[in-house]
Amino acid sequence: MTIQWYPGHMNKAKNQIQANLKFVDVVLELRDARLPLASANPVLKQIVPEPKRIIILNKSDLADGQQTQQWVRYFQEQGVTVVPLDVQHHQNLSELTLAIEQKLAPRLKKYQQSGVRNYTIRAMCVGIPNVGKSTLLNKLVGKKVAVTGNRPGVTKNQNWLKAPHNLELLDTPGVLWPKIEDQTNGLKLALSGAIKDSLVSASELAVFALDFWRQYYPAALQKMYQLDDSDLKVSGSDLLIHLTQAWAWQEDYERTAQKIIQDVRQLRLGRYSLDRVENNHD
Ligand code: G4P
Repeated sequence: MTIQWYPGHMNKAKNQIQANLKFVDVVLELRDARLPLASANPVLKQIVPEPKRIIILNKSDLADGQQTQQWVRYFQEQGVTVVPLDVQHHQNLSELTLAIEQKLAPRLKKYQQSGVRNYTIRAMCVGIPNVGKSTLLNKLVGKKVAVTGNRPGVTKNQNWLKAPHNLELLDTPGVLWPKIEDQTNGLKLALSGAIKDSLVSASELAVFALDFWRQYYPAALQKMYQLDDSDLKVSGSDLLIHLTQAWAWQEDYERTAQKIIQDVRQLRLGRYSLDRVENNHD
């Protein structure tokens, strides 16, 4: 697997975000709750000051709830404001507005004390592609807005969108790519759909998924594919062969691999978290 890392684009995106930083009170950094580390871009940590930064672990409806809870604790222990969200199904957005208000509490208190009601909190969304930035903007603004600048390298006039709770949001989210430092991160991103399937072969992805489920979700794997305990002892690639034979798909491993990937993505193997708190040594 060779996944490209584009420093040229990255610099442009980084400069755009940096230019916008001075106009905003809060930066909403979206990550995928299934990959709180692999779906991050390290540049953001360098350029966004902590007092402005809120990490949103989005798509929490797809992630393993226990892991998400542990990740929330992990970030909180590091002094980072973090909110798990399921933006698509519109739950918990009140938790986000609360987090924003808490983040800006000293300033909001001053406004309150001096009777100012007409203040504005300005925010922008940032994150890697496909983490739900446009969906969040639409939900906060309460209508479908054209997020046309949400493409690498596309510049356009920026507008502020009004949202409840005195919020105004920059209509152009900052897009940065994940930093794919190793093969495993690349596979995690591909399995979750954050990067294109074409970058990784289906069988490589399916073998990775089978090995991952053998280790972390063996009961779900056994139930889904009616496996014996002994089947779980073989490697992911042997399991792929075993399933291809069991389904009588001749030697069409590609077909088996595609099915497994779809099963994972459609949650037939249950909700899952690919970054594990217990394996994080940062
Ligand atoms: P982006 O701007 O960061 O690139 O992401 P975008 O909002 O376009 O969302 C990418 C995909 O993720 C969309 O699905 C969107 O519906 C889905 N999504 C966003 N938030 C959530 C969430 O909290 N949970 C789940 N399960 N999905 C979420 P799509 O299939 O690409 O588009 P569509 O079919 O929804 O239009």
